[in-house]
Amino acid sequence: MGNSTLTQPGPNLGISQTGRIELNTTLKVLLADEFVLYTKLRNYHWNVRGPNFIALHRLMEEQYTELAEIIDDVAERIRQYGEFAPGTLEEFKQLTRLNEQPGEYPDWRTMVANLVADHESLIRSLREDIENIDEDVDDDAVESFLSDLIDRHQKMAWMLRMHLEE
Ligand SMILES: [Fe+2]
Repeated sequence: MGNSTLTQPGPNLGISQTGRIELNTTLKVLLADEFVLYTKLRNYHWNVRGPNFIALHRLMEEQYTELAEIIDDVAERIRQYGEFAPGTLEEFKQLTRLNEQPGEYPDWRTMVANLVADHESLIRSLREDIENIDEDVDDDAVESFLSDLIDRHQKMAWMLRMHLEE
């Protein structure tokens, strides 16, 4: 991921150019992850079936609505750090750390388990991102923004995980 989209002159935020590049690289990958999970939630909202249909259909809608907010915040933060935010599906597909399962319409349990796994994988990635940013850039604002996302994904993972427990 190059720095070709870093706008000049950048904002003077007390962050070095290398720092801005690292923040933006992290945020772009995160944006792609959130967009992939957002899409999976919409897919499952449409295609889920079974005895918990209405509960899961609604829960998935709640979660993709929350992710739409998160996506907007992440993208606008990239702009604040002086770079263009990626906004194409092709870029998201290249950048994301998550996997899609095209053409598969699993049973509700597998759908819920896939969503829990994606939320948890995002949480682990966010943890690493925070550690790296803390070491390399030490930008408290973005660190606390990312910590808040951990909280939100943890709650969403829990809401889903409870459907799997007897
Ligand atoms: Fe709907």
